Amino acid sequence: MDDVVLDGDKVRLRDWRPSDLGPLRDLLDPARPWHETNGPYFGTPTTAAAESTARELTTPKSEPPDPRASLAVCDLSDGRLIGRVSWYWESRQTDWRRMGLVIYDERYWGGGFGTEALRMWTTYLFSRTDALRLDFATFSGNPGMIAVGRRLGFVEEGRFRRARRWSGGVHDAVVYGVLREEWGQMHHPSQARA
Ligand SMILES: CC(C)(COP(=O)(O)OP(=O)(O)OC[C@H]1O[C@@H](n2cnc3c(N)ncnc32)[C@H](O)[C@@H]1OP(=O)(O)O)[C@@H](O)C(=O)NCCC(=O)NCCS
Repeated sequence: MDDVVLDGDKVRLRDWRPSDLGPLRDLLDPARPWHETNGPYFGTPTTAAAESTARELTTPKSEPPDPRASLAVCDLSDGRLIGRVSWYWESRQTDWRRMGLVIYDERYWGGGFGTEALRMWTTYLFSRTDALRLDFATFSGNPGMIAVGRRLGFVEEGRFRRARRWSGGVHDAVVYGVLREEWGQMHHPSQARA
């Protein structure tokens, strides 16, 4: 199967490479600020867990899945690794897929990289599956992720009030989703009409 390489205006989504291991180790460092909004109630991964994740992602797969479970997010201008998109089964039995997005490198926050990465990842997943819907979960303490979803036309489908109570405070758990036909109309109107 060919490598996946998807170019937007600012970001490239591509398959992971063994040479990503060094930069990824640095980006997954438990001291990095992205841990503060990426499911902080689950606790910050240990250095050993980060190392295991970095190795798992960058070890070549003999038969990579279609669609990919994860892609590297890179700055298109210089190829620098800056983040990751991913998805997992919320419910495999009912074909319910949930996406993840992290721009690990805080120097890139607020520059439109996350919005473009999620836009491209959503289009990729709809194009490689017959999924009726895609969504992501976050919490009310992550205005950046909520803004990304709203900007792309995701709808707030669930809000579990005060469901995230931990030492960082009390927040709502929220889920944003989009239907295949909504995505087509908003982002690929010519294909949606075909
Ligand atoms: C959340 C995250 C993915 C957003 O990506 P990003 O590249 O920083 O976001 P963008 O630059 O594309 O911004 C999109 C919108 O969010 C807004 N935004 C970004 N960060 C924000 C913040 N901290 N607070 C409020 N709004 C924010 C931007 O202003 C923009 O809104 P606009 O279109 O109205 O101007 C990224 O900051 C990140 O990975 N953070 C750490 C990990 C994390 O929280 N991941 C998500 C877990 S669910």
